[in-house]
Amino acid sequence: MTSNRVQVVVVDHPLVAHKLTFLRDKSTDTPTFTRLVDELVTLLAYEATRDIRVVPVAVQTPVSPADGVHLAEPKPVLIPILRAGLGMLAGMQHLLPSATVGFLGMSRDEESLEITTYADRMPADLTGTQVYLLDPMLATAGTICAAVDHVANLGAAELTMICLLASPEGIARLEAHAADNDVRIRVVTGSIDLCLNDRAYIVPGLGDAGDRLYGVV
Ligand code: PRP
Ligand code: URA
Repeated sequence: MTSNRVQVVVVDHPLVAHKLTFLRDKSTDTPTFTRLVDELVTLLAYEATRDIRVVPVAVQTPVSPADGVHLAEPKPVLIPILRAGLGMLAGMQHLLPSATVGFLGMSRDEESLEITTYADRMPADLTGTQVYLLDPMLATAGTICAAVDHVANLGAAELTMICLLASPEGIARLEAHAADNDVRIRVVTGSIDLCLNDRAYIVPGLGDAGDRLYGVV
C-alpha cells in the first residue's frame, strides 16, 4: 500500500504471524508478551532497515583485503514512544547498537483521543538523519501524526515507523496528514488489522499494549 508520502510494508513472514498470534492471545502473560515484542521488533527491523545508509570501507581479513560497508554518518536515530514503544527499544539496539536514542512520551486520552506529549528528550537536530519511530500500535494515528510533526520540526525529512499492528483507519489518516507535511514516511508493520472498535482499539488487535507490557492487567 503506497501513497506519495507514505509507504506501508506489511512483513509477511510465518514467524511474524506465529509470534503475533501469541501476542494477541489474552492468556499470554506479561513476561512472555515482553519477550515476544522484543523478538518481533528484530524481525520487523530487518525489513525496516533495508535502506539504511552505509558507506564503503576496505578491511583486511586474515587472508586478504575485502570490501565492505559501515553505517553512514549521521547515525540513525531510534525514538521509542513511551510507554509501549519502550518495549521495542532493546530489540532495535541489538541490531543498531551505535544508534542515537531520543525519547517521546505521548499518551492518548481514552475518551477524547487527544494526544498529550508529556516527555521530550530528543536530539536537537535531526537534519539528514534516518529516524526510526518505535510504537507497537498505530490505531487512530493521532500519536504517530503528532510524532511526525515533532520530528519534522527538528529537521527530519524521512522516518520509518515500526509497529506491530496498524489499522486501516490509522493508515488512511496518516496518509492524509502526510500530504500536508514534507516528511517521507514508511510504516513497517506485522499486520494491518480489520478496523477500530467504538473505543478506538484495534480489532482484533491485542488490547492495550502498554498495559500488557508493564503488567497493569
Ligand atoms: C498507545 C500506543 C500508541 C497509541 C496508539 O499508547 O502505544 O502510542 O496508543 O493510538 P493512536 O494511534 O490512536 O494514537 P497510549 O496512549 O495508550 O500510551 P501508553 O504507551 O502509555 O500505553
Ligand atoms: N492503543 C493500544 O495499546 N491498543 C489499541 O488497540 C489502540 C491503542
